[in-house]
Formats: sequence, structure tokens, C-alpha cells
Amino acid sequence: MTLTTTTAVTRADETSAPILEVLAARWSPRSYDPTVAIDEQALASVLEAGRWSPSAANTQPWRFIVARRGSEAFDKIVSNLMGFNQAWTPNAAALIVNLAETTDPDGKPRPMASYDLGQAVAHMSVQAHHEGLHVHQMSGIIAEGLRDAFSIPENFTALTVTALGTIDSPEALGEEGAIAREKAPRERFPLDELVLVNE
Ligand SMILES: Cc1cc2nc3c(=O)[nH]c(=O)nc-3n(C[C@H](O)[C@H](O)[C@H](O)COP(=O)(O)O)c2cc1C
Repeated sequence: MTLTTTTAVTRADETSAPILEVLAARWSPRSYDPTVAIDEQALASVLEAGRWSPSAANTQPWRFIVARRGSEAFDKIVSNLMGFNQAWTPNAAALIVNLAETTDPDGKPRPMASYDLGQAVAHMSVQAHHEGLHVHQMSGIIAEGLRDAFSIPENFTALTVTALGTIDSPEALGEEGAIAREKAPRERFPLDELVLVNE
């Protein structure tokens, strides 16, 4: 067992083999500092990391709607999030709507679009953590509301929204349940349950 550093910010846990520090340290907070604006250079690097992600036949079936806190677009995104996501996201420095291109220009399905988009968002998340930002992905979104709000064409679907920002203390969330969730241990299935064959 390798024991990586555990701090309130990283919440890195034990890993059963050494992994990159940025991967061990990544976690998804909901408490963001409402006074800190997005670091534009960091945001540019995050988007660039997504751009260089691999995709099936290099189709790059991803598009992003980027909104900084205080913009009209940001408020439109927040109002198209579900339940609790609407409560904590307003303090994020930026929100990104992650769109998958589900069909090609001839109307043929792109079956790998969701896979490719997820991989692009994973690259972006790792880059964001490397830049000192924290990230929280959400599928609790109102995809059709986002379609209307941003006139998203039929061949694209909003799959997730990513919140990015500077982390704040768990207590800043105010509500007891939310504070407890923010501090709850991060858990994963053991590796031997995930690897089905390992000859
Ligand atoms: C595709 C996806 C959808 C998610 N949807 C939500 C969501 O709607 N609301 C939320 O608070 N967290 C959401 N999460 C965050 C997960 O709950 C979180 O990543 C998971 O519990 C693991 O925690 P960690 O990222 O801190 O390691 C989502 C994460 C992913 C990858």
C-alpha cells in the first residue's frame, strides 16, 4: 500500500499502487470561493487539454459552452441544473456545458461520441487540478432546457456540466448535510473487483 498525503484540500486517499499525484489529489468539491474569478490562463489550458484528447477516428465529437460567474450564460446554466446542483454551483468561478456530437453531418450516428466526450472532460479535469483549480462534473442537468437556452443544434446533446473554481471550506456550504457530504471519505471498489482477468 502506498499512502499519499491527505490534506483538507486534496483529500487524497490510499492507493493500492502509486499513481500520479494529480490523479490521487483530484476530488469533486461543492464548496467554491465566490470571491475568486477564474484564472484565464488556467481555463485556456483546461480547454486546450480537452482539444488534445483522443477520439474515435479523430472525430473530436465534443463542443463546450464556457461561462464565467457573473455572465448571463452562467445564470442560464445554473437555472438548467437539477435540485441540489442549483444550490452550490453559483459560487463556482466557471461552468462548462459539455456537448456530444451524436450524429455526423450526414445524420449517421456517432456511437463513440459519449465515450469521447467523457475522455475529453477527464483530460480537462486533470489539467484543471494541475492548474490548482478544483472541478466537479454533473449529470444532474436539464439537457432540453440547455438546448433551448443556447439554441443547441439537434445533432449535439448536453451530457454534463463541469463546475470549476477555487475551493472553499466545507463549512461555507452552510447546511449540515452538505458539510458532512463534503467531508465524507472518498471510496472506491477494490482493484481486484474491477480487473476481471489479469493473467
Ligand atoms: C458523469 C458524472 C456525473 C456526476 N453528476 C453529479 C451531479 O449531478 N451532482 C453532483 O453533486 N455530483 C455529480 N458527480 C460527482 C460524483 O458524485 C463524484 O465524482 C463521485 O462521487 C466520486 O467522487 P470524487 O470525484 O470526489 O472522487 C458526477 C460525476 C460524474 C463523473
